[in-house]
Parts: sequence; structure tokens; C-alpha cells
Amino acid sequence: MNKNGSTIIFAHRGSAGTHPENTMPAFEAGLEAGAEGLECDIQLTKDLVPVVIHDETVNRTTNGQAWIKDLTYEEIKRLDAGSWFSPKFGGVSIPTLEQLFEWAAGTSLTLNVELKNGIVRYPGIEKIVLDLVYAYSLENRTIISSFNHYSLVEVRRQDPDIETAVLFMEGLYEPWNYAGNIKADGLHCFFPVAVPELLVGARKANMPVRPFTVNEEETMQNLIKGGCAGIITDWPEKAVHVRNSS
Ligand code: G3P
Ligand code: CA
Repeated sequence: MNKNGSTIIFAHRGSAGTHPENTMPAFEAGLEAGAEGLECDIQLTKDLVPVVIHDETVNRTTNGQAWIKDLTYEEIKRLDAGSWFSPKFGGVSIPTLEQLFEWAAGTSLTLNVELKNGIVRYPGIEKIVLDLVYAYSLENRTIISSFNHYSLVEVRRQDPDIETAVLFMEGLYEPWNYAGNIKADGLHCFFPVAVPELLVGARKANMPVRPFTVNEEETMQNLIKGGCAGIITDWPEKAVHVRNSS
């Protein structure tokens, strides 16, 4: 929640509806759209540089073809991560997490950093990311999320205070209890899972819910009315408008 108790709007992979996802233009557009938070995805290069990209390969969102784990950062930074979306963004590169943090440190954005540690395992990703959070003094406005709940437990082992959130789709029984048991602080669920029973259970457990990826106005309205602490959307401008008119 924002300080005034309103739902925080998170720009998913930046403003992914209007810009090439997980690039600096997309993050800047999220801020411009009035989002108070950003969501981003982290993978590790062969030389262990955390880079901001959703997939385990560069195939879908760049002009390259390779697993990220097999490329050095020197190789990654030469790729074009904008043209697949529109020629207007030709030459835009995959940012490092450090580049994103350096820029975000000059804003008041809440940073939802998703550790991608599933299809490809990245041993040590938790410490690499936490060290960067500390280097840029972002610990009070960073949420570490992951579908890999072992990673969340490892983050909590290394840092008792940083906010974490369980990412999940469906089938988790009383997710507020599950998250509490692994010492996570919040629930980031696929939006259809955010039914009243879940919202009520989470509220009673004092656990924030931030569903993803919420792109339809009616769903935004319902989740905001339902008391979600945040919503994660590709269309932050629309979500800010819906939230401010609710
Ligand atoms: O963090 C919410 C959402 O981004 C999780 O799914 O696949 O878009 O990373 P995905
Ligand atoms: Ca994500």
C-alpha cells in the first residue's frame, strides 16, 4: 500500500504494454505513467552479471539466439532488445540490474525484483542481488519475489529484514499460512487466484497481496476495491487512472 493506504501500481517489466519489456525506456515510461512501483526479472550471465530479462534465452526479445547463462555480459550488451517490439526502439540494450538500480536510486519507486531461478538454476543469485540492493541503499523499498521459494528462504536466511513475496499460480492451500511458514512477507499471485476468500485470509494474516498481470480495467477495479496492496500491470497509466477514480 502507499502511505495514504491506496493500492500501489507496479509497472510490469516496466510499461510492457507500450515499450519493450525490461528495458530502461520501459522503466522510465512506468515512472512517467505515474506508477509507484516497478517489476523486473533477473537472470545471470555466464560471468555472473545480473541482467534484466524475463526469458532464460535472448531469443524472443533480442536479435540474438542463446541461453543467457552461456553469454558474457560483453556479449549480452551488444544485443538489440528493442527492435522486436518496434523499430522505434532499435539499439536499446538489455540493462544490468546495476544500471536499473543506479537510475531507480534517484526516484522513490518501490522495486519488485523477481529472481528467475527456475528453468535454469543460478546458484548464488540471492547474494549477488542482495549485495546490489545494499550498494544502492534500496533495502527499504525493494521486494524480492520468486516462483522459486527455496530462493526466498535463502534470501530470508541472508537478510532477516528485506521484504519478500511468494509468486504462485494456483493450488496453494491457505497461501497466507504457507508464506508465513517460509518467513515471506507477501503474496504475488496470478490474478484469477485473488478471489475474496484469499483476500480475506491474507488480510486477517496481515499479508499484502499484489496480483499479476492485471491488464483489464474491470479486474483492476475489483482488486483495488478488494484491498490489494498492489497490482502488477503492463498498463500502469490505465491502472493509475482506475485507482485514482476509485
Ligand atoms: O512478478 C509477477 C509476474 O511478473 C510473474 O510472472 O512470467 O511475468 O515473470 P512473469
Ligand atoms: Ca516477472
